[in-house]
Amino acid sequence: MSKKSKSKFKIPRGMRDILPKEQIYWEKVRSVIGNVAGSYGFERIDTPILEERDLFIKSTGAYTDIIEKEMFNLTTKGRDKLSLRPEFTPGVMRAYLEGGLSSLPHPVKLYSIGPIFRYERPQKGRYRQSYQANFEVIGEQDPVLDAQLIQIFFSISKKLGLKKLITQINSIGCFKCRPNYRKKLVNFYRNRKKDFCSNCQRRFQYNPLRLLDCKNEICSQLAQEAPQIIDSLCDECNSHFKSVLEYLDELEIPYILNPCLVRGLDYYTKTVFEIWPEEEDGRQVSLSGGGRYDGLIKLLGGQDTPAVGFAIGLDRIVNLIKEREIKITPRKKHLIFLVQLGELGKKKSLKLFEELRQAGLETASSFSKNTIKSQLRIANKLQARFALILGQKEALEDSIIIRDMETGSQKIVPLFKVVKEVKKKIKL
Ligand code: HAM
Repeated sequence: MSKKSKSKFKIPRGMRDILPKEQIYWEKVRSVIGNVAGSYGFERIDTPILEERDLFIKSTGAYTDIIEKEMFNLTTKGRDKLSLRPEFTPGVMRAYLEGGLSSLPHPVKLYSIGPIFRYERPQKGRYRQSYQANFEVIGEQDPVLDAQLIQIFFSISKKLGLKKLITQINSIGCFKCRPNYRKKLVNFYRNRKKDFCSNCQRRFQYNPLRLLDCKNEICSQLAQEAPQIIDSLCDECNSHFKSVLEYLDELEIPYILNPCLVRGLDYYTKTVFEIWPEEEDGRQVSLSGGGRYDGLIKLLGGQDTPAVGFAIGLDRIVNLIKEREIKITPRKKHLIFLVQLGELGKKKSLKLFEELRQAGLETASSFSKNTIKSQLRIANKLQARFALILGQKEALEDSIIIRDMETGSQKIVPLFKVVKEVKKKIKL
C-alpha cells in the first residue's frame, strides 16, 4: 500500500506527476511510437516549449478556444510575449522555415514527442499539461498521405494492443469553396440565433463552422439540420476527399463520415479527422486528431507548400491501455543488488558498484542499511536477479557471495572475477 505524506505544496491544478510505477506504460508508448515513426521515414524534431505568442495566434487562429481561453502566456523581463505551446504544429512549421528544412527533398516527414499546455477545465483525459506525439508531412498534396497518416495511428495502436477504435472523417474544403459554404451556413443559422448557446453566439460572428461541433444539446441538434459542407466542395476538394476514403477502404481502416467534424484549429483545409475509442459510455475523448493544412506555411511567410499531419494524445492512450487492462510486459530486468557489511565491506562495494555499472550491469544497493536481512529485503522488493554479498569475512578474503534470488543458491567467487561471473550468468 502506498502511504502519502503531507507536503506544504500542491501540484498545479490540471497537472499530474508521472510516478515511477506509471513509467512502464509511458516508456512502452513512447518506444512503439518512435519505432513506428522511424519505420515510416519520419525524423525527430524537438522545438522549444515556449514560442512567440503571435505564432500561435496566427497559426491556430485568434478566435479559437485554444487562443481565446486556453493559452498559458508570459512576458519575459525583456518584454517578449511568449506562450507555452498549446500544440506542436505552429512551432514545427516555424522550425521548418527557420532551420532551412524547406530546401531538403520533399516530402519532409517530422515527428515530435513532448508536453503541450492548455488551460482547460480539468477532468479525466483532459489536463492542463498533457503529452502529444505529433507527425507532420510537408510538401505533398497527394491524398494517399492523408490516409497513410491514419494508417500510422492504427499501426501504433495495434502494437499497443488497442482495438475497437474508429476514425471520424470529414473534408472542410479549401479557400476557394469554403467561403461559399460559410455563407450558406450563416444564412441557415441567422434565423435560429435565439436558439443556440452563448458560446455559439460569439462563434457565429467569428467562426461559424465551429457551431457544427458544439457539444450543447440544442446546438448539436441544430447542427444535424445544417447544410453539409460535403455538398459545397469544389471539384478538387471533392475528388481529393473521395480518394482519401478509397485509400482508407483499401487499407481496411474503420471510419465514419462525420459532417459536423470541423476541428478547433483554424489552419485546416480539406481532410480533417479524429480517432476515438468505440466506447459504449460515449465519453468525449478523442485519442488523436489531425488533417491537412495547405495554407499554413505560406501564412507564416514560406512558399505555398501543402502539408498534412496529426497528433496523438499520449495521456489518453495510457489511460485507455489501463482501462482496458492491456498487459504491458516490463523490459526484462537483470538487476544486481549489492549487499555489504562492515566498514571494509562498504568501501570495497563502493568501488565494485562502479565496476558493475561500467560493465553495463544494472546495479542497485542500499549503503545506508546495515543488516544483511534488511538489504536482502530491498533486493527482493526490487526483484533483483542476483544479490552480491560482501560481508566482513569476504572483504578480508577478497571474495564475494553471488546469491541467485530466484533459487536462493549461493556461490563464493574471488572478488576480481565477480563481474565476469555475473555477466556469464545473465549471458550478457
Ligand atoms: P488536437 O486535436 O488539438 O490537434 O490534439 C490532438 C490530441 O491531443 C487530441 O486528440 C487529444 O488526444 C490530445 N489532447 C489535446 N488536448 C488535450 C488535453 N488537454 N488533455 C489531454 N489530451 C489532450 C492538434 O493539437 C494538432 N496540432 C494536430 C495536428 C498536427 N494537425 C496537423 N498536424
